[in-house]
Order: sequence, then structure tokens, then C-alpha cells
Amino acid sequence: MGIHSRSESSHTPVAIVGAGPAGLMFSHLLHLQGVESVVIEKQSREEVETTVRAGILEQGTINLLRKTGVGERLDREAEIDEGISISIAGESHRIDFAKYTGKHVAVYPQHEVLIDLIAKRLSDSGEVWFNTEVTSIEDHESDNPKVHYRTADGSESVLSADYVVGADGSNSLTRKLITGEDGRRMKHEYPFAWFGMMVHAPQTAPELIYATHPEGFALISTRSESVQRYYLQCNPNDTPGMWPDERIWEQLHLRADSDSVIVSEGEITDKAVLRFRSAVTDPMQRGRLFIAGDAAHTVPPTGAKGLNLAMADICALAPGLVQAVKSLKARC
Ligand code: DHB
Repeated sequence: MGIHSRSESSHTPVAIVGAGPAGLMFSHLLHLQGVESVVIEKQSREEVETTVRAGILEQGTINLLRKTGVGERLDREAEIDEGISISIAGESHRIDFAKYTGKHVAVYPQHEVLIDLIAKRLSDSGEVWFNTEVTSIEDHESDNPKVHYRTADGSESVLSADYVVGADGSNSLTRKLITGEDGRRMKHEYPFAWFGMMVHAPQTAPELIYATHPEGFALISTRSESVQRYYLQCNPNDTPGMWPDERIWEQLHLRADSDSVIVSEGEITDKAVLRFRSAVTDPMQRGRLFIAGDAAHTVPPTGAKGLNLAMADICALAPGLVQAVKSLKARC
């Protein structure tokens, strides 16, 4: 498949900015209801499919992927967890999700969801334009918004749309048009962060461990049988250089080893400081422009909420937009 499958037409019912979970799932849901769209993404397909993010899908997201025909690989490959361990000062306490809620979570990294959604969109002849940057949006308060974009070779063009959806992440360009002069964006910056690592090691435990300790929080998560995802609470101004491997192992064992578990060690292949921010935007619509997912609200990495919230936004927005596009068509 080429980098993009650009249509001849310069009009689309729905232009979607961003090929993250919100943008791709939105395009997929519209397609299932007979509404076509164009997804415009500034990164390459490879970058989108390999960037490491959180890895836990809640039951609502699992159900959505299955119900809409993109859950096959998830069902084959994902680890299903029916609970978590809370470790307090070395003593572990299991919370049984299945027993108390009848629900479970799936360990399935965000980029795997994106790989599945991109493959599905392209096999359904969907338009996903990678390496294409939206430079501005005009006339979104009219009935014919225009999306200006630039391709990798530097050429500029315009896509006209009936509606535009900004799913372009926390540094969203589309949000700035929504907040404008009288919109509001409330933000909070936390006095702590997470130091995130990828580790080539066997799984520490069959389920995730959330550990609390006077030195700070630690999370023992996983990606596969041989790749683990660990987090240590740290100072937001820390840099990876301040966390040599010896310090990491000392702190992971101190904070997360328990009566029943010893954190498994291996080669650390990725280190990054993830700052903790929360933000909400009001309103999430102006004229024919809507925002969804991180573009509208940013959450800290805790609980791997970002992707799951983005999916929830899209489920709320899709039926209304399908109806709006169809009623426009009926009027023509
Ligand atoms: C992961 C991240 C989280 O914030 C969480 O609560 C559980 C898992 C993860 O990246 O694996």
C-alpha cells in the first residue's frame, strides 16, 4: 500500500485531522454507517505504527474493537487480565475485576490498535493521508469548511469538507480555533512525573502491580512475555541521564518487590520522563469543527486512560455526525 491513497476529489463529507486512536476509529465508525472521510496525518505510517504509548484497553474499548470488526488480532494475541495487585509496603492485595465488575482489561499496546485500524481502513479503501500536515482550517463556522494541507514534497492544497474533526492530540492545532477568544482551556500540571521504561525481561507477575512506597509509586506492567513496561514516580524535571540502570533496579525492587513477587530484570531499551498534565476544553465544537480525544482533554498516563477516553468520545460523536451528514445528503 502506498503512503497515501489520495482521492481525485477535493471534497470529503468529513475531514479528520490526526491518525491516532480517535481519528482512525472515527473514520472506521463513519465508514460502517456509509459515510466516507479523509484522515490527514503529519507523521509517516511507520512512525504512527511504532510510537510507544500506554498498553491497557478497558472493557468498553475491547467491546468496541470486537463489535466493529477490528478485534480479531486482539482476541488472538492480547493478554486478558481479570485483576490487578496493589502492593503496599511490600504486601500485595489483589483486586478481582471480574468478580466485582464482571469486566476485564486487555494488555494490547496502543500502536497495535493503530496497526489494526490502519489496515482495516486501507482494506476498506479508506483514505488515510500520511506525511501530510494540516496548516490551517478556514470557514469552519460556515457550511463549507476548508482544510489547508502540505504534503511531504512541500506542495500545498485545500480539501473542502462538510465537517471537520480535530483528533490531533494534545498539541492540537484545531483546538486553538475552538478555544478562540471566548473558549476555555483549564490546565493542571502535577508536581511529579513517571519515569517509563521498556525492558527485555520475562514477566514479573501474571497481572499488573501498582505499588505504593514512601520513595514513590511504581507500576509493573507488561507488553509481552519477553518485553515489560515499568514506571517509577519521579521528579518532573528529571532527565533519563539521572536514572542509570543501577538506580532503576534499586528503586524498582525497593518499591515493588513484595512477599510474593520480585521484579524481573533485563536490558532496558527505552527510558523517558512522562510529565503529568490534565486539561479540559470547553466547548468541544465551533460551527462545523469538533475536537475529540487528547485534543479536547489531556490526562496523565495513569490508568492508560487517554486511548480509552478517546474511544468513548468517538462513540458519542459518531452517531450525531452520521445523522448530520446524511441529512445534508438528503437535502441535496
Ligand atoms: C500502563 C500504563 C498505565 O498508566 C496503567 O495504569 C497501566 C498500564 C502501560 O503502559 O502498560
